[in-house]
Amino acid sequence: MSDDTVELEARLEEAESFDPPESFVEQANVTDEGIYEEFDENWPECWERAADLLDWDEEYDTVLDDGDAPFYEWFTGGSLNASANCLDRHLDERGDEVAIDWIGELGDTRTYTYEELHREVNEFAAALRDLGVEENDVVTMYMPMIPELPIAMLACARIGAPHSVVFAGFSADALATRMESAASEYLITCDGYYRRGDPLHHKEKADEGLSQVDHEVEEVVVADRLGDEYDHPMDDGERDFDDLVADHEGAAVEPVSRDAEDMLFLMYTSGTTGKPKGVKHTTGGYLSYVSWTSHAVLDIEPDDTYWCSADIGWITGHSYIVYGPLALGTTSVMYEGTPDYPEKDRLWDIVEEYEVDIFYTAPTAIRAFMKWGTEHPEKHDLTSLRLLGTVGEPINPRAWKWYYKHVGNEECPVVDTWWQTETGGMMVTTLPGINTMKPGSAGPPLPGIDARVVDTAGEEVDAGRAGYLTVDKPWPGMLRTVYKNDDRYVSEYWSEYSDPDADEWVYFPEDGAKIDEDGYITVLGRVDDVLNVSGHRLGTMEIESAIVGVNGVAEAAVVGGQHPVKGEAVYAYVITEEGQEGDAAFEEEIVAAVEEAIGPIARPEEVVFTPELPKTRSGKIMRRLLEDIANEEELGDTSTLRNPDVVEDIQAKVSDD
Ligand code: PRX
Repeated sequence: MSDDTVELEARLEEAESFDPPESFVEQANVTDEGIYEEFDENWPECWERAADLLDWDEEYDTVLDDGDAPFYEWFTGGSLNASANCLDRHLDERGDEVAIDWIGELGDTRTYTYEELHREVNEFAAALRDLGVEENDVVTMYMPMIPELPIAMLACARIGAPHSVVFAGFSADALATRMESAASEYLITCDGYYRRGDPLHHKEKADEGLSQVDHEVEEVVVADRLGDEYDHPMDDGERDFDDLVADHEGAAVEPVSRDAEDMLFLMYTSGTTGKPKGVKHTTGGYLSYVSWTSHAVLDIEPDDTYWCSADIGWITGHSYIVYGPLALGTTSVMYEGTPDYPEKDRLWDIVEEYEVDIFYTAPTAIRAFMKWGTEHPEKHDLTSLRLLGTVGEPINPRAWKWYYKHVGNEECPVVDTWWQTETGGMMVTTLPGINTMKPGSAGPPLPGIDARVVDTAGEEVDAGRAGYLTVDKPWPGMLRTVYKNDDRYVSEYWSEYSDPDADEWVYFPEDGAKIDEDGYITVLGRVDDVLNVSGHRLGTMEIESAIVGVNGVAEAAVVGGQHPVKGEAVYAYVITEEGQEGDAAFEEEIVAAVEEAIGPIARPEEVVFTPELPKTRSGKIMRRLLEDIANEEELGDTSTLRNPDVVEDIQAKVSDD
C-alpha cells in the first residue's frame, strides 16, 4: 500500500459517518427530508405513492384493510397483472431498450429487450396454459441464474399461476419437501449450469427430487443450458423449454387481471422448526412495495443499468433483480457465475463493460473482495457507478468502508438495507439522497415503516442499548400468511409483542438490534435458531434433523460460529451411539447427509464429536455456550448446567481440530 492509501485507510477507519455525495443528491429520486413526516402524518394513505408507480386494471378502493388483523389486506378492490406491469406497459416507450442483460459464466451473453422479453414470456405463458396450468396452480422452478427463470416467473404471473422458486443449490430433498408442501404439480428446471467453468448436472438432482414427491407431478419442463456438453436424462413426457416456446411462436396471452391480494408467489424460508415456511406474497402490495423501494432506495431510473448480484432463488433476486427493476423499466443485469471465475476481478470487469450505474450485493461478497485485495477493482474503470448497496447480513464497518472507498471511490452512497423474505422489500436503510451514512448501521426505518428496538417487555430501549427489533405497523410488502398455515403465521410473527385482546399487533422479525441517538438501527443478527451463512438463511433444526438421521448418531446440536468471510459458519456438535467411532469417515458421512438434505451451503465447517452436550437441569441444550466454544470466546455462565465438566472437554476438542 502507498503512504497515501495508508493515510486514507486510517482516516476512513476513524470516520463515523459520511454524507451523501453532492453529485448523487443532485440527481436522486428522493431528496426531500419532509418525506418521513409526510408518511407519518398521512399513514396509511402515504402508501398510495407506492401503488401509483404501477398500472392498475381496476383502481383499489381501500389502501389498508385491517379488519382481520394480523391478516392485513392492501389496496383492496384493486386489480392488476405483475407481468403487464413489468413488460407490456414499457413497450411503447422502451420496447427496444434492454430489460435483461444476461452474462454466462463462460463469457457467453444473451440480451433481451423489453420487446423480446415480452414476446418470450407470452410464448411461454401460452405453452404453460397448453400444458394445463391454470390460474392459482403453484408452479415450482428449480433453476439457476439463466434467463429462462425470470421468463418462467413472468409467464406464471401473466396467467395468474403463483411460482415457487427453489434455489438451485438446494438439495433434491429440499425440492421434494417444497413441492409437496405447496402441492405443486408442475416443475420447470434445466439440464445444468456452469460453476467455475465446469458443467453441473442439475437435471439428475431434479430427477432425484421428483422421485421423492408423493403426489403426481403433471408436467416437467427442462431448459437447455449445457447443450451438447451434457446429454441430460429426459423421461417420457418431459418437455424441452425451447421447443415449447418455438411451438407457441407469436402467441399473445392476455394478462390475467389479478386481485391485489391474489398470491404472486411463494418463497420457502427457514424458521425455528425443521420445516421451512412457505411465505406468501401478493400481487398488489408486494409489487407496489418493491417498485417503491427500487425507486426510493436503489434510486433506479429507466435509463440505468442496474446489477444485483444475488441469486433469483432467494428473495433478494425476486424483489430486486426481477420485479422491482423491471416494473420500473430499467436494465437488470443477471450474472450466472461466481465472482472469482475466471479471475477475481470478474465482477469489476462486468461493471466496466456494462457501465453499471447501481450495484447491490452481500457483505459476504464484500469481505471476499477485501481478502482478494484492492488490485482487482483498481484494474477497472468503475466510474459508471452511482450507488452501492448491501443486504442479507450485518456488515462490519471495515467492510463497509472498503466498499465505499475501493468500489465507490467515495463518490457513491452505500445503502445497507435490512429486510427479510417475509418483509418482501427493504425496511430499514438510509435514503441515499437524504441521510448521512454510518458504517455498520443500516439506518433509520424507511418512511412509513414503524420499526423500533424494544426490550423483552416491549418497551423501547434507550439509545445505545441492545434489544429486539419490532415493526409496529403493517406495510404493503409484508407476507400475508405462511402458506396453508395461518396459525404458524400468527404464532411465529405476531405473538411475541402483540396484545390480541386489545387488537394491537406487532410484527416480530426475530432479529436483535440496537438504536442510536439519531434513531439509526444496527441489526445484530437473529435471535431465533436461524443461522446466516454467507447471507443465506438456514435453520439449525433442519441441519440437526439431517444429522440425527445418520445411523450411529445419538444426538446433535448445531450453532453458528463467527466466520471472517461467511459471517457465520455451521458448527455441529455430535454425540455418537455406543460402538460408533467419531472418526474422519463418520464426519464425512455426516457432512454428506447435510448436503443431501439441504445443500452444500449448509455444510458444517466443523463436526465436533463429544460424549455429552451442555444441558440445563431441565435438559435444555445450552446453545449459547456451544456458540462461545465455537467462537473461542470466554464462556458465559455455566452455573446452571447439569454437567459443567463437559464444557471443558468440548473446548479442548475444538482447539485440537
Ligand atoms: O437477520 C437478518 C439478516 O437476514 C435475515 C433475513 O434473511 P432472508 O429472509 O434470507 O432475507 C435476506 C435478504 C433480504 C434478517 O432477519 N439481514 C438481512 N439484511 C440485513 C440483515 N442483517 C443485518 N443487516 C442487514 N442489512
